[in-house]
Amino acid sequence: MNNCILVTGGAGFIGSNFVNSWVKQGFGKVVNVDKLTYAGNLENLSGIQGNEDHVFVQADIGDSKVIAELLKEHEPKAILNFAAESHVDRSIHAPGEFIQTNIVGTFNLLEEVRPYWNGLNEREQGDFRFLQVSTDEVYGSLTADDPAFKETNPYEPNSPYSASKAASDHLVRAYHHTYGMPMLTTNCSNNYGPYHFPEKLIPLIIHNALNDKDLPIYGDGSNVRDWLYVEDHCSAIRCVLETGQVGETYNIGGWNEMSNLEVVHTLCDMLDLQRRKDAGSYRDQITYVTDRPGHDQRYAIDATKIERELGWKPAETFKTGIEKTVAWYLENQSWVENVTSGEYQKWVGKNYQARENV
Ligand code: NAD
Ligand code: DAU
Repeated sequence: MNNCILVTGGAGFIGSNFVNSWVKQGFGKVVNVDKLTYAGNLENLSGIQGNEDHVFVQADIGDSKVIAELLKEHEPKAILNFAAESHVDRSIHAPGEFIQTNIVGTFNLLEEVRPYWNGLNEREQGDFRFLQVSTDEVYGSLTADDPAFKETNPYEPNSPYSASKAASDHLVRAYHHTYGMPMLTTNCSNNYGPYHFPEKLIPLIIHNALNDKDLPIYGDGSNVRDWLYVEDHCSAIRCVLETGQVGETYNIGGWNEMSNLEVVHTLCDMLDLQRRKDAGSYRDQITYVTDRPGHDQRYAIDATKIERELGWKPAETFKTGIEKTVAWYLENQSWVENVTSGEYQKWVGKNYQARENV
Protein backbone atom coordinates (compact mmCIF):
# COMPACT_ATOMS: atom_id res chain seq x y z
CA MET A 1 0.00 0.00 0.00
CA ASN A 2 1.30 3.49 -0.88
CA ASN A 3 0.91 6.92 0.65
CA CYS A 4 -1.71 7.64 -1.98
CA ILE A 5 -5.45 8.21 -1.90
CA LEU A 6 -8.02 7.58 -4.61
CA VAL A 7 -10.73 10.22 -4.85
CA THR A 8 -13.84 9.80 -7.02
CA GLY A 9 -15.69 12.85 -8.35
CA GLY A 10 -12.68 15.09 -7.79
CA ALA A 11 -13.51 17.40 -10.70
CA GLY A 12 -16.86 18.43 -9.18
CA PHE A 13 -17.59 21.18 -6.67
CA ILE A 14 -16.59 19.61 -3.34
CA GLY A 15 -14.24 17.00 -4.79
CA SER A 16 -12.13 19.61 -6.60
CA ASN A 17 -11.92 21.79 -3.49
CA PHE A 18 -10.80 18.69 -1.57
CA VAL A 19 -8.21 17.60 -4.15
CA ASN A 20 -6.84 21.14 -4.57
CA SER A 21 -6.26 21.60 -0.85
CA TRP A 22 -4.90 18.04 -0.38
CA VAL A 23 -2.30 18.47 -3.14
CA LYS A 24 -1.43 22.10 -2.33
CA GLN A 25 -0.87 21.22 1.33
CA GLY A 26 1.47 18.38 0.32
CA PHE A 27 -0.51 15.53 1.91
CA GLY A 28 0.58 13.11 -0.85
CA LYS A 29 -0.53 11.68 -4.17
CA VAL A 30 -4.17 11.74 -5.29
CA VAL A 31 -5.58 9.54 -8.04
CA ASN A 32 -8.64 11.48 -9.15
CA VAL A 33 -11.29 9.37 -10.96
CA ASP A 34 -14.04 11.45 -12.53
CA LYS A 35 -16.39 10.75 -15.42
CA LEU A 36 -16.56 14.46 -16.28
CA THR A 37 -20.32 14.72 -16.49
CA TYR A 38 -21.81 18.20 -16.96
CA ALA A 39 -20.83 18.83 -13.29
CA GLY A 40 -17.18 17.80 -13.65
CA ASN A 41 -14.75 20.42 -14.87
CA LEU A 42 -10.98 20.17 -15.29
CA GLU A 43 -10.79 23.96 -15.03
CA ASN A 44 -11.51 23.48 -11.29
CA LEU A 45 -8.14 21.71 -11.06
CA SER A 46 -6.07 24.14 -13.15
CA GLY A 47 -4.20 25.32 -10.03
CA ILE A 48 -2.58 21.88 -9.64
CA GLN A 49 -2.08 21.16 -13.33
CA GLY A 50 1.30 19.51 -13.87
CA ASN A 51 1.70 18.70 -10.18
CA GLU A 52 3.13 15.16 -9.87
CA ASP A 53 0.93 14.47 -6.86
CA HIS A 54 -2.23 14.71 -9.00
CA VAL A 55 -3.12 11.90 -11.39
CA PHE A 56 -6.38 12.52 -13.24
CA VAL A 57 -8.26 9.61 -14.83
CA GLN A 58 -11.48 10.17 -16.77
CA ALA A 59 -13.61 7.13 -15.88
CA ASP A 60 -16.92 6.01 -14.44
CA ILE A 61 -16.85 4.68 -10.86
CA GLY A 62 -19.00 1.84 -12.20
CA ASP A 63 -16.31 0.77 -14.68
CA SER A 64 -15.01 -2.29 -12.82
CA LYS A 65 -12.09 -2.94 -15.16
CA VAL A 66 -10.66 0.58 -14.88
CA ILE A 67 -11.13 0.68 -11.09
CA ALA A 68 -9.45 -2.73 -10.66
CA GLU A 69 -6.48 -1.59 -12.76
CA LEU A 70 -6.12 1.67 -10.83
CA LEU A 71 -6.20 -0.13 -7.47
CA LYS A 72 -3.55 -2.57 -8.67
CA GLU A 73 -1.33 0.15 -10.10
CA HIS A 74 -1.52 2.77 -7.32
CA GLU A 75 -2.29 0.67 -4.20
CA PRO A 76 -4.12 3.52 -2.39
CA LYS A 77 -4.31 3.63 1.41
CA ALA A 78 -7.78 5.19 1.24
CA ILE A 79 -10.68 5.75 -1.14
CA LEU A 80 -12.96 8.77 -0.80
CA ASN A 81 -16.21 8.49 -2.73
CA PHE A 82 -17.42 11.98 -3.74
CA ALA A 83 -18.72 10.95 -7.18
CA ALA A 84 -22.48 11.29 -7.50
CA GLU A 85 -25.29 12.89 -9.37
CA SER A 86 -25.97 15.65 -6.85
CA HIS A 87 -28.80 17.97 -7.92
CA VAL A 88 -32.27 17.32 -6.45
CA ASP A 89 -34.16 19.04 -9.30
CA ARG A 90 -32.37 16.94 -11.91
CA SER A 91 -33.26 13.81 -9.92
CA ILE A 92 -36.92 14.82 -10.17
CA HIS A 93 -36.73 15.30 -13.95
CA ALA A 94 -34.60 12.20 -14.67
CA PRO A 95 -33.90 9.81 -11.76
CA GLY A 96 -32.26 7.09 -13.88
CA GLU A 97 -28.73 8.56 -13.81
CA PHE A 98 -28.98 8.88 -10.02
CA ILE A 99 -29.77 5.18 -9.66
CA GLN A 100 -26.98 4.32 -12.07
CA THR A 101 -24.16 6.37 -10.54
CA ASN A 102 -25.14 6.72 -6.90
CA ILE A 103 -26.33 3.14 -6.37
CA VAL A 104 -25.01 0.87 -9.13
CA GLY A 105 -21.78 2.86 -9.53
CA THR A 106 -21.05 2.78 -5.79
CA PHE A 107 -21.87 -0.94 -5.69
CA ASN A 108 -19.47 -1.66 -8.58
CA LEU A 109 -16.79 0.42 -6.88
CA LEU A 110 -17.24 -1.48 -3.61
CA GLU A 111 -17.08 -4.79 -5.46
CA GLU A 112 -13.61 -3.86 -6.78
CA VAL A 113 -12.41 -2.48 -3.45
CA ARG A 114 -13.43 -5.69 -1.65
CA PRO A 115 -10.90 -8.05 -3.35
CA TYR A 116 -8.27 -5.28 -3.24
CA TRP A 117 -8.73 -4.95 0.53
CA ASN A 118 -8.82 -8.74 1.00
CA GLY A 119 -5.45 -8.95 -0.75
CA LEU A 120 -3.75 -6.53 1.69
CA ASN A 121 -1.77 -7.86 4.65
CA GLU A 122 -3.27 -7.58 8.14
CA ARG A 123 -1.56 -4.30 9.03
CA GLU A 124 -2.50 -2.73 5.71
CA GLN A 125 -6.10 -3.91 6.08
CA GLY A 126 -6.26 -2.17 9.45
CA ASP A 127 -4.81 1.06 8.06
CA PHE A 128 -7.01 1.18 4.94
CA ARG A 129 -10.13 3.42 4.86
CA PHE A 130 -13.12 3.80 2.52
CA LEU A 131 -14.88 7.10 3.18
CA GLN A 132 -18.38 7.64 1.80
CA VAL A 133 -19.21 11.32 1.32
CA SER A 134 -22.92 11.61 2.02
CA THR A 135 -25.55 14.19 2.76
CA ASP A 136 -27.95 15.31 5.49
CA GLU A 137 -30.81 14.87 2.98
CA VAL A 138 -30.91 11.14 3.71
CA TYR A 139 -32.50 11.95 7.10
CA GLY A 140 -35.56 13.52 5.45
CA SER A 141 -37.21 16.77 6.44
CA LEU A 142 -37.57 18.55 9.83
CA THR A 143 -40.36 20.76 11.12
CA ALA A 144 -39.44 24.10 12.67
CA ASP A 145 -39.48 22.61 16.19
CA ASP A 146 -37.67 19.32 15.56
CA PRO A 147 -34.17 18.88 16.99
CA ALA A 148 -31.36 18.88 14.41
CA PHE A 149 -30.36 15.59 12.74
CA LYS A 150 -28.18 13.30 14.85
CA GLU A 151 -26.28 10.29 13.50
CA THR A 152 -28.93 8.11 15.17
CA ASN A 153 -31.84 9.60 13.18
CA PRO A 154 -33.50 7.05 10.89
CA TYR A 155 -32.99 7.44 7.16
CA GLU A 156 -36.14 8.94 5.59
CA PRO A 157 -35.10 10.18 2.13
CA ASN A 158 -37.73 12.06 0.13
CA SER A 159 -36.27 12.72 -3.33
CA PRO A 160 -34.81 10.34 -5.90
CA TYR A 161 -31.45 12.02 -5.17
CA SER A 162 -31.57 11.46 -1.41
CA ALA A 163 -33.01 7.96 -1.83
CA SER A 164 -30.12 7.02 -4.11
CA LYS A 165 -27.58 8.45 -1.64
CA ALA A 166 -29.30 6.58 1.19
CA ALA A 167 -29.06 3.34 -0.78
CA SER A 168 -25.33 3.81 -1.37
CA ASP A 169 -24.77 4.62 2.32
CA HIS A 170 -26.55 1.38 3.23
CA LEU A 171 -24.25 -0.57 0.92
CA VAL A 172 -21.21 1.02 2.55
CA ARG A 173 -22.58 0.12 5.98
CA ALA A 174 -23.25 -3.46 4.84
CA TYR A 175 -19.70 -3.90 3.54
CA HIS A 176 -18.40 -2.98 6.99
CA HIS A 177 -20.76 -5.27 8.89
CA THR A 178 -20.61 -8.19 6.46
CA TYR A 179 -17.03 -8.15 5.20
CA GLY A 180 -15.35 -6.24 8.04
CA MET A 181 -14.07 -3.55 5.68
CA PRO A 182 -12.94 -0.29 7.37
CA MET A 183 -15.65 2.11 6.26
CA LEU A 184 -16.47 5.68 7.36
CA THR A 185 -19.51 7.75 6.37
CA THR A 186 -19.96 11.52 6.61
CA ASN A 187 -23.33 13.27 6.30
CA CYS A 188 -22.88 16.94 5.55
CA SER A 189 -25.23 19.89 5.23
CA ASN A 190 -25.43 22.33 2.28
CA ASN A 191 -22.03 23.50 1.06
CA TYR A 192 -21.19 26.77 -0.68
CA GLY A 193 -17.97 28.29 -2.01
CA PRO A 194 -15.72 28.37 -5.10
CA TYR A 195 -16.49 26.08 -8.08
CA HIS A 196 -20.13 25.60 -7.01
CA PHE A 197 -22.07 24.82 -10.19
CA PRO A 198 -24.68 27.54 -10.89
CA GLU A 199 -27.60 25.14 -10.94
CA LYS A 200 -27.53 25.31 -7.10
CA LEU A 201 -29.15 28.15 -5.17
CA ILE A 202 -26.22 30.37 -4.13
CA PRO A 203 -24.22 30.46 -7.39
CA LEU A 204 -27.47 30.58 -9.42
CA ILE A 205 -28.62 33.69 -7.56
CA ILE A 206 -25.24 35.43 -7.99
CA HIS A 207 -25.18 34.54 -11.69
CA ASN A 208 -28.78 35.58 -12.38
CA ALA A 209 -28.49 38.82 -10.40
CA LEU A 210 -25.43 39.95 -12.34
CA ASN A 211 -27.11 39.03 -15.63
CA ASP A 212 -30.33 40.91 -14.97
CA LYS A 213 -32.38 37.71 -14.76
CA ASP A 214 -35.12 36.63 -12.35
CA LEU A 215 -34.02 35.26 -8.97
CA PRO A 216 -36.33 32.22 -8.71
CA ILE A 217 -37.47 31.28 -5.21
CA TYR A 218 -39.33 28.00 -4.94
CA GLY A 219 -42.58 28.28 -2.95
CA ASP A 220 -42.54 31.00 -0.31
CA GLY A 221 -38.79 30.92 0.41
CA SER A 222 -39.28 29.67 3.99
CA ASN A 223 -37.40 26.38 3.50
CA VAL A 224 -34.37 26.19 5.75
CA ARG A 225 -30.89 24.84 4.96
CA ASP A 226 -27.80 24.63 7.19
CA TRP A 227 -24.92 26.19 5.24
CA LEU A 228 -21.23 25.22 5.53
CA TYR A 229 -18.27 26.72 3.66
CA VAL A 230 -16.83 24.04 1.37
CA GLU A 231 -13.28 24.22 2.78
CA ASP A 232 -14.72 23.44 6.23
CA HIS A 233 -16.37 20.34 4.76
CA CYS A 234 -12.97 19.35 3.32
CA SER A 235 -11.20 19.83 6.66
CA ALA A 236 -13.90 17.75 8.37
CA ILE A 237 -13.42 14.92 5.85
CA ARG A 238 -9.65 14.97 6.42
CA CYS A 239 -10.28 14.86 10.16
CA VAL A 240 -12.67 11.87 9.89
CA LEU A 241 -10.25 10.09 7.56
CA GLU A 242 -7.39 10.48 10.03
CA THR A 243 -9.14 10.00 13.36
CA GLY A 244 -12.68 8.67 12.77
CA GLN A 245 -13.68 5.34 14.28
CA VAL A 246 -14.09 2.62 11.66
CA GLY A 247 -17.74 1.76 10.98
CA GLU A 248 -18.95 5.11 12.34
CA THR A 249 -20.98 7.89 10.80
CA TYR A 250 -20.20 11.59 11.42
CA ASN A 251 -22.58 14.48 10.78
CA ILE A 252 -20.86 17.64 9.49
CA GLY A 253 -22.48 21.06 9.67
CA GLY A 254 -21.94 24.71 10.41
CA TRP A 255 -24.68 25.41 12.98
CA ASN A 256 -25.92 27.90 10.47
CA GLU A 257 -29.59 27.54 9.59
CA MET A 258 -31.06 30.11 7.23
CA SER A 259 -34.24 30.32 5.18
CA ASN A 260 -33.77 30.53 1.42
CA LEU A 261 -35.22 34.04 1.49
CA GLU A 262 -32.61 35.13 4.06
CA VAL A 263 -29.83 33.67 1.90
CA VAL A 264 -31.11 35.41 -1.24
CA HIS A 265 -31.57 38.75 0.57
CA THR A 266 -28.01 38.51 1.94
CA LEU A 267 -26.62 37.92 -1.56
CA CYS A 268 -28.66 40.75 -3.08
CA ASP A 269 -27.53 43.19 -0.39
CA MET A 270 -23.86 42.23 -0.81
CA LEU A 271 -24.06 42.58 -4.58
CA ASP A 272 -25.92 45.90 -4.25
CA LEU A 273 -22.99 47.28 -2.23
CA GLN A 274 -20.31 45.92 -4.53
CA ARG A 275 -21.85 46.21 -7.97
CA ARG A 276 -24.74 48.64 -8.27
CA LYS A 277 -24.17 52.18 -9.37
CA ASP A 278 -27.90 53.08 -9.47
CA ALA A 279 -30.34 53.36 -6.55
CA GLY A 280 -32.05 50.03 -7.34
CA SER A 281 -31.61 46.69 -5.64
CA TYR A 282 -31.06 43.16 -6.89
CA ARG A 283 -33.93 42.27 -4.52
CA ASP A 284 -36.23 43.67 -7.23
CA GLN A 285 -35.35 40.64 -9.39
CA ILE A 286 -36.72 38.15 -6.82
CA THR A 287 -39.53 36.02 -8.32
CA TYR A 288 -41.55 33.40 -6.47
CA VAL A 289 -42.07 30.33 -8.65
CA THR A 290 -43.81 26.95 -8.47
CA ASP A 291 -42.34 24.91 -5.64
CA ARG A 292 -40.04 21.88 -6.05
CA PRO A 293 -42.20 18.71 -5.79
CA GLY A 294 -41.68 17.05 -2.39
CA HIS A 295 -39.58 20.02 -1.26
CA ASP A 296 -37.99 19.23 2.13
CA GLN A 297 -38.89 22.02 4.54
CA ARG A 298 -35.87 22.10 6.83
CA TYR A 299 -32.44 20.49 7.28
CA ALA A 300 -30.30 21.06 10.37
CA ILE A 301 -27.20 19.19 11.45
CA ASP A 302 -26.26 18.43 15.03
CA ALA A 303 -22.46 18.35 14.70
CA THR A 304 -21.81 17.54 18.37
CA LYS A 305 -20.30 14.11 17.71
CA ILE A 306 -17.53 15.23 15.35
CA GLU A 307 -16.78 18.23 17.58
CA ARG A 308 -16.67 16.25 20.82
CA GLU A 309 -15.04 13.01 19.62
CA LEU A 310 -12.70 14.30 16.89
CA GLY A 311 -12.24 17.95 17.88
CA TRP A 312 -13.37 19.36 14.51
CA LYS A 313 -15.00 22.79 14.22
CA PRO A 314 -15.70 24.98 11.17
CA ALA A 315 -13.24 27.82 10.62
CA GLU A 316 -15.69 30.09 8.79
CA THR A 317 -18.90 31.77 9.89
CA PHE A 318 -21.57 32.30 7.22
CA LYS A 319 -20.50 35.96 7.07
CA THR A 320 -16.84 35.23 6.34
CA GLY A 321 -17.63 32.28 4.07
CA ILE A 322 -20.17 34.11 1.94
CA GLU A 323 -17.84 37.12 1.59
CA LYS A 324 -15.13 34.80 0.21
CA THR A 325 -17.66 33.14 -2.05
CA VAL A 326 -19.10 36.33 -3.56
CA ALA A 327 -15.56 37.68 -4.06
CA TRP A 328 -14.57 34.45 -5.82
CA TYR A 329 -17.54 34.60 -8.21
CA LEU A 330 -16.91 38.26 -9.01
CA GLU A 331 -13.24 37.51 -9.72
CA ASN A 332 -13.96 34.35 -11.73
CA GLN A 333 -16.65 35.41 -14.16
CA SER A 334 -14.89 33.61 -17.02
CA TRP A 335 -15.26 30.31 -15.11
CA VAL A 336 -18.99 31.06 -14.75
CA GLU A 337 -19.29 31.93 -18.44
CA ASN A 338 -17.60 28.68 -19.45
CA VAL A 339 -19.93 26.50 -17.36
CA THR A 340 -23.12 28.35 -18.23
CA SER A 341 -22.89 27.95 -21.99
CA GLY A 342 -24.21 24.94 -23.92
CA GLU A 343 -25.83 22.18 -21.87
CA TYR A 344 -26.52 24.51 -18.94
CA GLN A 345 -28.92 26.61 -21.02
CA LYS A 346 -30.96 23.50 -21.87
CA TRP A 347 -31.19 22.66 -18.17
CA VAL A 348 -32.35 26.16 -17.26
CA GLY A 349 -35.05 25.93 -19.93
CA LYS A 350 -36.21 22.54 -18.67
CA ASN A 351 -36.26 23.42 -14.98
CA TYR A 352 -37.57 26.99 -14.99
CA GLN A 353 -39.74 27.50 -18.09
CA ALA A 354 -42.50 25.21 -16.84
CA ARG A 355 -42.59 26.93 -13.41
CA GLU A 356 -45.22 29.60 -13.04
CA ASN A 357 -44.73 32.80 -11.09
CA VAL A 358 -46.72 32.54 -7.84
P1 NAD B 1 -21.05 17.78 -8.10
O1 NAD B 1 -22.27 17.41 -8.86
O2 NAD B 1 -20.53 19.17 -8.17
O3 NAD B 1 -19.83 16.84 -8.56
C1 NAD B 1 -19.99 15.47 -8.77
C2 NAD B 1 -18.75 14.97 -9.52
O4 NAD B 1 -18.90 13.55 -9.71
C3 NAD B 1 -18.59 15.59 -10.91
O5 NAD B 1 -17.25 15.95 -11.12
C4 NAD B 1 -19.00 14.46 -11.88
O6 NAD B 1 -18.33 14.51 -13.12
C5 NAD B 1 -18.59 13.24 -11.07
N1 NAD B 1 -19.35 12.03 -11.45
C6 NAD B 1 -20.69 11.92 -11.60
N2 NAD B 1 -21.02 10.66 -11.96
C7 NAD B 1 -19.85 9.95 -12.00
C8 NAD B 1 -19.53 8.61 -12.26
N3 NAD B 1 -20.47 7.72 -12.59
N4 NAD B 1 -18.24 8.23 -12.20
C9 NAD B 1 -17.26 9.13 -11.89
N5 NAD B 1 -17.52 10.43 -11.63
C10 NAD B 1 -18.79 10.83 -11.67
O7 NAD B 1 -21.33 17.34 -6.62
P2 NAD B 1 -20.82 17.97 -5.24
O8 NAD B 1 -21.77 19.03 -4.82
O9 NAD B 1 -19.39 18.28 -5.36
O10 NAD B 1 -21.04 16.74 -4.26
C11 NAD B 1 -20.00 15.79 -4.06
C12 NAD B 1 -20.50 14.73 -3.08
O11 NAD B 1 -20.84 15.35 -1.85
C13 NAD B 1 -21.76 14.00 -3.56
O12 NAD B 1 -21.63 12.67 -3.21
C14 NAD B 1 -22.88 14.67 -2.79
O13 NAD B 1 -23.94 13.79 -2.58
C15 NAD B 1 -22.18 15.02 -1.50
N6 NAD B 1 -22.71 16.19 -0.77
C16 NAD B 1 -22.89 17.38 -1.41
C17 NAD B 1 -23.31 18.49 -0.68
C18 NAD B 1 -23.50 19.84 -1.33
O14 NAD B 1 -24.00 20.76 -0.68
N7 NAD B 1 -23.11 20.04 -2.59
C19 NAD B 1 -23.56 18.37 0.69
C20 NAD B 1 -23.38 17.12 1.30
C21 NAD B 1 -22.93 16.05 0.57
O1 DAU C 1 -28.18 19.29 2.17
C1 DAU C 1 -27.13 18.83 1.35
C2 DAU C 1 -27.56 18.89 -0.09
O2 DAU C 1 -27.57 20.27 -0.45
C3 DAU C 1 -26.66 18.09 -1.03
O3 DAU C 1 -26.75 16.72 -0.69
C4 DAU C 1 -27.07 18.31 -2.48
O4 DAU C 1 -26.16 17.63 -3.34
C5 DAU C 1 -27.04 19.79 -2.77
O5 DAU C 1 -27.48 20.02 -4.09
C6 DAU C 1 -27.92 20.54 -1.78
O6 DAU C 1 -29.32 20.22 -2.00
P1 DAU C 1 -30.47 21.34 -1.94
O7 DAU C 1 -31.62 20.85 -2.71
O8 DAU C 1 -30.69 21.80 -0.55
O9 DAU C 1 -29.68 22.52 -2.72
P2 DAU C 1 -30.17 23.57 -3.84
O10 DAU C 1 -29.06 24.57 -3.98
O11 DAU C 1 -30.66 22.90 -5.06
O12 DAU C 1 -31.39 24.29 -3.13
C7 DAU C 1 -31.24 24.96 -1.89
C8 DAU C 1 -32.60 25.49 -1.50
O13 DAU C 1 -32.97 26.53 -2.41
C9 DAU C 1 -33.71 24.45 -1.59
O14 DAU C 1 -34.64 24.66 -0.53
C10 DAU C 1 -34.38 24.73 -2.94
C11 DAU C 1 -34.19 26.22 -3.09
N1 DAU C 1 -34.06 26.71 -4.47
C12 DAU C 1 -33.13 26.12 -5.28
C13 DAU C 1 -32.97 26.54 -6.59
C14 DAU C 1 -31.96 25.87 -7.50
C15 DAU C 1 -34.82 27.79 -4.92
O15 DAU C 1 -35.63 28.35 -4.17
N2 DAU C 1 -34.65 28.21 -6.20
C16 DAU C 1 -33.77 27.63 -7.06
O16 DAU C 1 -33.69 28.06 -8.26
